[in-house]
Amino acid sequence: MPVDLTHPDPIDLADPRFQPLLEKLQGNILKSHGRDYAMHSFFRFRGDPAAARRLVAELTRRYVTSAAEQEQQIARFKAGHEQELFGALMLSAKGMKLLGLTLPAGFGEATLQPATSAPVSFANPMKDAAAVFADQPDQWDAGYRGGDIDGMLLLAMGHAEEPYDADAIPTALLDAAKDANALIDGAAEVVAFEIGQQQRRGDDAVEHFGFIDGISQPALVTSDLPPPQDRTENDPSAGLALALLRDPFVRDDDACGSFFVFRKLEQNVRLFRDEEARLAAALGGIPRDQAGAMMVGRFQDGTPTVLAGAPSGASPPVNNFSYAVDPGTPPAFPAKCPFHAHIRKTNPRGDIGRQFGGGAAVDENERQRRVVRRGITYGSRDNDLGDAPSGGVGLLFQCYQSSIPDQFAFMQNSWANNEDFVRPGGSGHDSIIGQGPRGVEQTWPGPWGSNATRKLPGQRQLVTDKGGEFFWTPSMPFLQSL
Ligand code: HEM
Repeated sequence: MPVDLTHPDPIDLADPRFQPLLEKLQGNILKSHGRDYAMHSFFRFRGDPAAARRLVAELTRRYVTSAAEQEQQIARFKAGHEQELFGALMLSAKGMKLLGLTLPAGFGEATLQPATSAPVSFANPMKDAAAVFADQPDQWDAGYRGGDIDGMLLLAMGHAEEPYDADAIPTALLDAAKDANALIDGAAEVVAFEIGQQQRRGDDAVEHFGFIDGISQPALVTSDLPPPQDRTENDPSAGLALALLRDPFVRDDDACGSFFVFRKLEQNVRLFRDEEARLAAALGGIPRDQAGAMMVGRFQDGTPTVLAGAPSGASPPVNNFSYAVDPGTPPAFPAKCPFHAHIRKTNPRGDIGRQFGGGAAVDENERQRRVVRRGITYGSRDNDLGDAPSGGVGLLFQCYQSSIPDQFAFMQNSWANNEDFVRPGGSGHDSIIGQGPRGVEQTWPGPWGSNATRKLPGQRQLVTDKGGEFFWTPSMPFLQSL
C-alpha cells in the first residue's frame, strides 16, 4: 500500500511499512545528517540536456544517500564504524527544465491562505522574490547573482571529537568535494562553493552570535518526539505532509520529494554585540545577556526568556512552552519575550489565534508554516567565539518543506520582515533575521518581566542575505531513472 502522506503523526522509522518510502527518499529530510562539516557545490549545466542527465545520474550513483541508507549509516556508526560520507542532490526549476521536465500545474505554488504579500513560486529563481524578502541580489556573492543555478550537491562528513575544532575539516571530505567538483565540471560549471563548519560550545551546536541552535524542530519521526509529559505546552509532532509530497516526475506511489531553500546569511557579530549593549542600557541597565536573549527569545544556553530572566543551564534546553504565559493581551505587550524575538516570530506557538481570536483552525494554519531546518554555520572564528567579526561568517540556512511559498517564504515575509506581525504598528522586524527598512518602533518590556513597555527605534539589520536558491529534492527513483 502506498505511503499515506495525510497521516498526521510522526512515523516510526523501524516500522517495515515505511521501508519503501525510506528507500525512495533522499536522506536529511526526515532526520538531520548530523555531520559537523558540509560542502555545497552549486552548478549550472552547460546546456546539453543529455550530458546534464548523465551527470545527475552519475552524481546520484556516487554520492546520494537515501533515507534508508542514512539509517544504516547511523547503525554502523553506533556500532563503532567510521562515520561515512553523506550526500544529497537538489535541482532548481531551471535545472529541471533543462533536463526536459515540465513542471505540473500548481507545482510549488501557494495553497494556504493567507498567502505572502507578493507571490512567490518555486518556478522562479529566488532573486525574483527579492522584493518579498527585502533581499538585494545585486549585492549577493557573484555565483548567486544571476539566478541561474541549476542544482546543488551537498556532501557532509565528520563529527565533533575532543577537542573539537571547527576548522579541522576532514581531508576525506575535502577530497570528495574536489572529486565531485571535477566530475561536475564536465557537463556543468561550479558557480558557487560553500563550506559549512559547525561552531560548537562544548557539545552544543551554536550559531555565530553564540546561541545554541537547532533546539526546536518539527518531529517527523517518533525518535525525535519528546515524551508526553514534555509536550503538554508545545507539541512538535508533524505529519509527513509538512515536508514531503509525491514526486510527480516518476510513476511510483512511494517516491516522495521535498522543496528545499538555501540562503547564505551573513552575520554581523560586532553589530549584534553593539545592539545588545545599547538595548541593555536603554532598558534600564539590564544584564547584557538578558538583552540579547530578548532579541532571540532564548538565552545563549537555550533557556526561553518567556520562562526565566536568566540562563537556567537546563540541558537539553526546555522546549515545552508556549507564549500563553506571556500573551501581551491588547493593549498590553509581552513582559518577557517581545513579539519580535526571533523564535516568537518564526514559531508563534498560538500567538496569532490569541491575538486575533480563531481557535483550532488558526493554530493549525500556523503549525502548517513550520519548516525542517538543516542549516550549518560557515566561516572561521576564535575557538571561544570571543572575537567579533563584522562579516565573513554566518549561517548556510537550509530548510525542507512541502511548499516554499506557504512555509519558508511566509515565515520570512509575513512574520520576520512584517513590522505589523501580531500587533500592528508595535512589533517591528524580527530582531535577528528581519530584513528591510525599519519603519516602526519595537516594543520591549522595560525591564524583563515588567508590564511597563518601552518603544525603541527598530534595531539595525544584523543578518544579510548573500545569495540563495529554491530547489526540489527529487526522489531516488527519479534520480536513478535518468
Ligand atoms: C530558532 C538563530 C535564521 C527560523 C533559532 C534559534 C536560534 C536561531 C539561536 C533558537 C534555537 C532553536 O530553537 O532551535 C538564527 C540565526 C539565523 C537564523 C543566527 C541567521 C543567521 C533563520 C531563518 C529562519 C529561521 C532564515 C526562517 C525564515 C527559525 C525557526 C526556529 C529558529 C523556525 C525555531 C523556533 C521555535 O520553534 O521556537 N534560530 N536563525 N531562522 N529559527 Fe533561526
